Amino acid sequence: MKTIIAIAQNLELCPIEKCSPDIQAGIREIRNESSIRKNMYQEKEIRSDEHESWIAHVKSSKSIQFFAVLDVNQKLIGGLSFSNIDMNNRRADWAFYLTSHVQGRGYGKALEFLALEYAFVTLELNKLNCEVIGWNKAVQKLHETFGFQLEGIRRQHVYRNEKYHDTTLLGITANEWEKQKVKWEIS
Ligand SMILES: CC(C)(COP(=O)(O)OP(=O)(O)OC[C@H]1O[C@@H](n2cnc3c(N)ncnc32)[C@H](O)[C@@H]1OP(=O)(O)O)[C@@H](O)C(=O)NCCC(=O)NCCS
Repeated sequence: MKTIIAIAQNLELCPIEKCSPDIQAGIREIRNESSIRKNMYQEKEIRSDEHESWIAHVKSSKSIQFFAVLDVNQKLIGGLSFSNIDMNNRRADWAFYLTSHVQGRGYGKALEFLALEYAFVTLELNKLNCEVIGWNKAVQKLHETFGFQLEGIRRQHVYRNEKYHDTTLLGITANEWEKQKVKWEIS
């Protein structure tokens, strides 16, 4: 089986504002897939004008970075975001998604590895945080295998399907990642 690092080496992260119009439009299509939007805070389908405004916002913002994820054939397979980037406190939040056609093949782990390396090596953050809606246990487990620690539960934070759901707060420090990453490099 291909290692996570080998898969990661074949992925390219393209800042959304530098991507072709086709790739930019493709991000909206993937983000609107039902298996993805149901796991996001904003579940409704994103219209094309909303998407354009969001890209303009990302372009002008210092606290958001969004990358289109391309496979070895330059095919768009997902998105990776860093938000609330705060260089005074050297921290940020992150999130990711992959089109349903490629899920379950190790790309998620490879992308999580790349996200952690980008956060701690390229951006030189001290802390990376994320939030997972309560039912998304598989993704919580995935984050924990990379060394994310449970930091809290935000109770009844999301109203969906006529019920309130908790969200799980997770975080990892630069020192924790330094110790964790070795296990991925040798596996
Ligand atoms: C999260 C996501 C990027 C993971 O990508 P992926 O390509 O499916 O992940 P991988 O193939 O690398 O699998 C990683 C691990 O997570 C598990 N996993 C991930 N998503 C899962 C799901 N929905 N159900 C069950 N297991 C899941 C896999 O079984 C695997 O665990 P294992 O190694 O113990 O078998 C992808 O499932 C996705 O886009 N989900 C919808 C959006 C989302 O929930 N994003 C996270 C919140 S921001």
